[in-house]
Amino acid sequence: MPAIVLVGAQWGDEGKGKVTDLLGSSVDYCVRYQGGNNAGHTVVVDGESYAVHLLPSGAITPGCVPVIGNGVVVDPAVLLDEISMLEGRGVSCTSLLISANAHLIAPYNTVIDKVTERFLGHNRIGTTGRGIGPTYADKVNRLGIRVQDLFDPGILRQKVEGALLQKNNLLVKAYNRRAIGVDEIVDGFLRYVDPLRGYVTDTSAVLNTALDGGKVVLLEGAQATMLDVDHGTYPFVTSSNPTAGGACIGAGIGPTRIDKVIGVLKAYTTRVGAGPFPSELFDADGEHLRKVGGEYGVTTGRARRCGWFDAVIARYATRVNAFTDYFLTKLDVLSGFERVPVCVGYDVDGTRYDEMPMTQTDFHHARPIYEYLDGWWEDISGCRSFEDLPKAAQAYVKALEELIGAPVAGIGVGPGRDEVIALRPLL
Ligand code: IMP
Repeated sequence: MPAIVLVGAQWGDEGKGKVTDLLGSSVDYCVRYQGGNNAGHTVVVDGESYAVHLLPSGAITPGCVPVIGNGVVVDPAVLLDEISMLEGRGVSCTSLLISANAHLIAPYNTVIDKVTERFLGHNRIGTTGRGIGPTYADKVNRLGIRVQDLFDPGILRQKVEGALLQKNNLLVKAYNRRAIGVDEIVDGFLRYVDPLRGYVTDTSAVLNTALDGGKVVLLEGAQATMLDVDHGTYPFVTSSNPTAGGACIGAGIGPTRIDKVIGVLKAYTTRVGAGPFPSELFDADGEHLRKVGGEYGVTTGRARRCGWFDAVIARYATRVNAFTDYFLTKLDVLSGFERVPVCVGYDVDGTRYDEMPMTQTDFHHARPIYEYLDGWWEDISGCRSFEDLPKAAQAYVKALEELIGAPVAGIGVGPGRDEVIALRPLL
């Protein structure tokens, strides 16, 4: 069972780190294939909680080789801080591999991300302000700086000069900010050459060799399906492809290598940043979900918007990712409701939609159509088999499974590593 892709099925923060952690020692390589330090994975191991933003969550699993693939955008300062934070807590990062083709987040792109958001005013995306979008724009625009450029100072300077010609025009003329000097950027980057050198390699070659040798490679998506630049709620999305197809591009492996695509789904829905969210709650129930679920961003600390489970987006996620399995997280957070609404379709200006509307306009007008399932009151964090769950919680999972079109292989019933109900093997 060599290559497995793990993708969030909603708007992110579904608890993907828990699944990685659960696969644990069976995984030989754990790969990030897109995004940057806009992500936030919380992994709880032996009661210790680790938050990683750029490294794959497998970095904490002993024996697993963490890989930053070519599709990732890397802020070198954040990466080195994360490595020293983990090493300071006794987690060795010596086996980390970084693709020479990954792009670097230059300081001017972090500035442009923040300034652009400010200028967009009420049309802003609500980005994490980490420079992700502008760095991917540079990549596609062929103005990007790659990790390998660190090792050729002449080329590095030439590329930074080229990029700054454009950036300074934008910063000074459009945004009334100060121009950024070439030396400032080049000298800043050159400081990372020695600390990073030992990690940089052709990660595509390493991963393909590993797969040839029957090793287990876990490709871990950051953000999620509905934040995908092609398949998400554009323009309120991130600037990369978290969906399963992105794993091939961002890791340098072919589609026929992939055996399993696991979708991670929260038992309700959350979203950070701006953009449409049909089943969003603005009442005490939403506040309850936020409080009990600890729904605050790992990266930015922002309160997450909370709402009921939306089966339309989950079905859509099943389609665009071809999920073979689902892992349902945070079922325990739903304990204590008399009835649990599930959004099964949308009302768009009087027309019923059972699938994602084709246009952004229709999705912005979508009102949830709910079915109401019986709630349960018991604390389910101690349940370790499906039969241990209260009957109403069992019925909730079964109803979701029916609606989303792929089997649920596991259920999270608490934040700890062992707070899981396994239904089908993930490997
Ligand atoms: P960016 O990725 O910083 O450009 O932000 C684009 C959108 O994606 C914003 O709505 C962010 O809040 C959202 N976003 C980015 N990373 C994450 C994540 O890891 N979880 C949830 N939302 C995210």
